[in-house]
Amino acid sequence: MNTKMEIKPDLKTDIGGIVLKNPVMTASGTFGYAMEFKEFVNLNRLGGIIVKGLSLEPSMGNKPPRIVETACGMLNAIGLENVGLEAFVKEKLPFFKKISTPVFTNIYGKSIGEYARLAERIDEFNEIAGIEVNISCPNVKAGGLAFGVVPETAAEVIKAVRKASSKPLIVKLSPNVTDITQIARAVEDAGADSLSLINTITGMSIDIETRRSKLANVTGGLSGPAIKPVALRMVWQVVQAVSIPVIGIGGILSARDALEFLIVGATAVQVGTANFINPQASMDVVTGLEHYLVQKNLKHINDVIGSMKT
Ligand SMILES: Cc1cc2nc3c(=O)[nH]c(=O)nc-3n(C[C@H](O)[C@H](O)[C@H](O)COP(=O)(O)O)c2cc1C
Repeated sequence: MNTKMEIKPDLKTDIGGIVLKNPVMTASGTFGYAMEFKEFVNLNRLGGIIVKGLSLEPSMGNKPPRIVETACGMLNAIGLENVGLEAFVKEKLPFFKKISTPVFTNIYGKSIGEYARLAERIDEFNEIAGIEVNISCPNVKAGGLAFGVVPETAAEVIKAVRKASSKPLIVKLSPNVTDITQIARAVEDAGADSLSLINTITGMSIDIETRRSKLANVTGGLSGPAIKPVALRMVWQVVQAVSIPVIGIGGILSARDALEFLIVGATAVQVGTANFINPQASMDVVTGLEHYLVQKNLKHINDVIGSMKT
């Protein structure tokens, strides 16, 4: 008798006030508004879906070229192009009623007031399970530095969003800081239910013929397999610094990649750039995690989370 085949592993995971059926989520900006992927992915099989970053007003984003391929990754300077809050509510939100998977809205504002207004409006809709707050965008008042690079301003944003919304709050951290654990602790104290990391790492690429940047915006955000070791290190550090769940992001292409993040203590993961390479990547990660648990004779994903040996 093959006892391994009898185990039906339990992949359920709690990301802070909300239980996902499995730890595999899709990352903001790489999965559109979910409907674009419905032909490729069984959306109900995902643990969670994070939709494209949303601002109060529609945004065209930056001028092209906005994407450059790099060794084992890509640089993007999309500039948070999106339909804006009210078009999102009217055109995108009704689709989420058809999906059983929790959908999270990723929000960004140019001021603390904008973050709060977005959170307050999103709070009205049952179709949205929670909010992921992207604090990596420029703070106009403090001179264009990202909110998420200074612990005090990061905390101010989260306090305001916390006041404006009763939904679970995931705070998405920027890796472009000296010590990510300081920001993590500040937003935990300000009321975050969980943290997701990392967003892209600022980078550049030059065309040696024209001697210009390959991106119209000059700099861009590096993502994909190239950033995985950095992301993994940061997740490992943050897991030890806070007591709320941490969601790992960065270069996850396969279940093997996802497992590395879970083993260092991530409670869930997000699949990003991989969706562009293989639109079914998120499904492959779910299937691969199930296989791993069966193969290792483990009953629950919690037997993997934080199981790193030293
Ligand atoms: C084209 C593109 C657009 C993105 N847009 C957003 C966004 O709107 N909001 C956000 O928080 N992160 C955004 N990200 C960052 C991803 O969600 C993710 O944090 C990052 O790409 C690292 O993961 P990966 O290596 O798996 O792609 C974007 C990334 C890419 C490549």
